[in-house]
Amino acid sequence: MTAQILDGKATAKEIRDEIADEVRRWVDRGGAKPCLTAVLVGDDPASQVYVRNKHRACEQVGIAGKVERLPADATESQLLDLIGRLNADPTVHGILVQLPLPQRTDQAGDESAAIDTRRLLDAIDPAKDVDAFSPVNVGLISQERPRFLPCTPHGVIRLLARYRLPTAGRRVVVVGRSDIVGKPIAMMLAAKNGVCGPDYANATVTLAHSRSADLAEITRQADLLVAAVGRPEMIRGDWIKPGAVVIDVGINRVGDRLVGDVAFEEAAEVAAAITPVPGGVGPLTIAMLLKNTVAAASGS
Ligand code: GUN
Repeated sequence: MTAQILDGKATAKEIRDEIADEVRRWVDRGGAKPCLTAVLVGDDPASQVYVRNKHRACEQVGIAGKVERLPADATESQLLDLIGRLNADPTVHGILVQLPLPQRTDQAGDESAAIDTRRLLDAIDPAKDVDAFSPVNVGLISQERPRFLPCTPHGVIRLLARYRLPTAGRRVVVVGRSDIVGKPIAMMLAAKNGVCGPDYANATVTLAHSRSADLAEITRQADLLVAAVGRPEMIRGDWIKPGAVVIDVGINRVGDRLVGDVAFEEAAEVAAAITPVPGGVGPLTIAMLLKNTVAAASGS
């Protein structure tokens, strides 16, 4: 292996230490203790682990972490009521609904029994939307005047900045067009004034996806490749330009292993730098969620 490993765990720890200081200073000045409430619907094991990790991370930096649990068969109106109460509660600064919501159909097989995720997310007060999923917050990002930054894209850019891997003028290929990662990171890397300064923006960005023709041909042009497609080890070593930087956002369970969207061993022979899975992007996502929660509490 020749690639440098980009250590997301260590970077996230540095950021969490900064956040803990920020929270201490805020509370010492008489500010209210920041509070993040996670809404967890059903008993999906992966979602439970994610919520537990977020809760623990909150407590470690002095943020109050609360969890509202609802059964998998909760109705959409019960969920909307809960969101309404959290919106109105001045002691709650950040709200997140853990995704995905349970898939379900009624006894007649009618999928309309499913909860409308969009409607639920739209009900969150944009000033408490620490995931930055609401259309208002997405619009503000696209106009380069963000209120909250989406957690995973922000974490990726902070990681690039920590390792001094600038993107200005470079070719970036993002694989995956999700609302959570692909679309916002493409937008943020193409921006003029990046969240970590212009050196970590101003890229020439291609937003590719699972239906792109000649995908390997496209990825081979990337100086920076961001894999966020959700397909285990889809991106092979020979899809990568020698000397490229590879950011693997994927977290896929294969048997009892967690793997990314990139075939790590192969890619690490070709790339100059690469994120591991786990221990790459994942820890940064939570760190940036904490940052947004402090911003929501302090109005900064
Ligand atoms: N599920 C997977 N990633 C995320 C995320 O970033 N936010 C929320 N709320 N749910 C998720």
